[in-house]
Amino acid sequence: MTRTFAIKSFGCQMNVYDAERMGEALAADGLHEAGTESADVLILNTCHIREKAAEKLYSEVGRIAKRAREDGRKPVIAVTGCVAQAEGAEIMRRAGAVDLVVGPQAYHRLPELLKRQAAGEERLVDLDMPADSKFGALPGRQRRGPSAFLTIQEGCDKFCAFCVVPYTRGAEASRPMDALVEEARQLVAAGAREITLLGQNVNAWGQGNMRFGELLAEIAAIPGVERLRYTTSHPRDVTEAMILAHAEIPQLMPYLHLPVQSGSDRILAAMNRKHTRAFYLDIIARFRAARPDIAITSDFIVGFPGETEADFQDTLGIVEEVGYAQAFSFKYSPRLGTPAAERDDQVPEEVKSDRLQRLQALLQEKSLAFNAGTVGRACDILIERRGRQPGQWIGKSPWLQSVVVTDPTLTVGDIVSVEIVGAGPNSVEGRMLQMKTAA
Ligand code: SAH
Ligand code: SF4
Ligand code: F3S
Repeated sequence: MTRTFAIKSFGCQMNVYDAERMGEALAADGLHEAGTESADVLILNTCHIREKAAEKLYSEVGRIAKRAREDGRKPVIAVTGCVAQAEGAEIMRRAGAVDLVVGPQAYHRLPELLKRQAAGEERLVDLDMPADSKFGALPGRQRRGPSAFLTIQEGCDKFCAFCVVPYTRGAEASRPMDALVEEARQLVAAGAREITLLGQNVNAWGQGNMRFGELLAEIAAIPGVERLRYTTSHPRDVTEAMILAHAEIPQLMPYLHLPVQSGSDRILAAMNRKHTRAFYLDIIARFRAARPDIAITSDFIVGFPGETEADFQDTLGIVEEVGYAQAFSFKYSPRLGTPAAERDDQVPEEVKSDRLQRLQALLQEKSLAFNAGTVGRACDILIERRGRQPGQWIGKSPWLQSVVVTDPTLTVGDIVSVEIVGAGPNSVEGRMLQMKTAA
């Protein structure tokens, strides 16, 4: 009988990309995808970034093991992703139901590990960070819908004082240009019309004397790549070529996710971000000069150790100044092994909660203002999924807004031109103007 698998992802977009590639590797090995309730192999693709994200693994394993016992099943449970890398041995200790632990740089060996497991080897752990990248060992890309992720760079050498990524993903490494062009072509052939380049520091990508700006031009030039995006950028790696790309490459969407984390220079220094508020604001101004309508988004951490009310006011201030289109904001979560977790000036939980609430209220206001500012504009949207009502569809605008449009003739993958006629903080409403290119 054919074995079946299911993958559940808990992390960032790169974590989702990894899940797709693991799924393709298992499918190439003859396994079939199934629901999480019935799969023979259940893969939990974990995230270690904040304590809550990491704890999800243990509650999930408990739930799965209980349900399987009730159903009289014994699925193989594999833990992949960043918690696997950070806590491999501890997972085996704490979660007796886990059969396999595989790190983010070793998942190309998942099919082989599953075979060894089936042959009787117990509780296998593979946390290798091999010099040879996993990418060469993975099969080609399969159809995934109109918008696809493509990891171009992995790992991080920046060591922000709060962050686990340099430990879970390893050192910064860029994939070769020809491999990326080949993968982008495969994605287009499989139906992708939009490609989002991924990296923990996506704009740190480099190969020889080629930099990120040149890669953008290469990928945009591939026939069928109608929209190009990238995330996440780091202020320190921004180049003039990358800024100018937004003025010169029509496929490149007017959107920039550039996390600042805090608006206070004192906290930015303590975070080891290696940039100041002024340096960051200058970059934003340069992007806006190249592409005046560019949507700017960010991540924020409140309650980093030593953060005072005055520091927090600086964060509210930078939000006012930039006018973000969207943002993610988090309470600082101490992570074992990171320098900030050792500090004795941790901010009390109630203060963090209060600041998060105030920040999110302001960010919400800015999102609404951004969306309201697009009302009356015409733009193209890429239809990604059905909406709640009959005949309703959700597409993405160039500024990555979710646009709700009602037209029973549409389908996933269509690019249509709409006029934006209404705005909320999390989505906008579009009125169909005309079909641009059908899926
Ligand atoms: N490489 C990206 C961030 C990747 S992690 C960058 O440098 O911007 C995604 C986001 O999680 C971060 O931007 C940060 O806002 C948040 N984050 C990371 N570590 C955290 C921690 N210990 N506590 C709370 N939020 C954290
Ligand atoms: Fe983490 Fe900082 Fe690296 Fe981003 S740049 S992944 S926040 S260490
Ligand atoms: Fe989480 Fe790892 Fe991504 S820690 S945010 S899954 S890089």
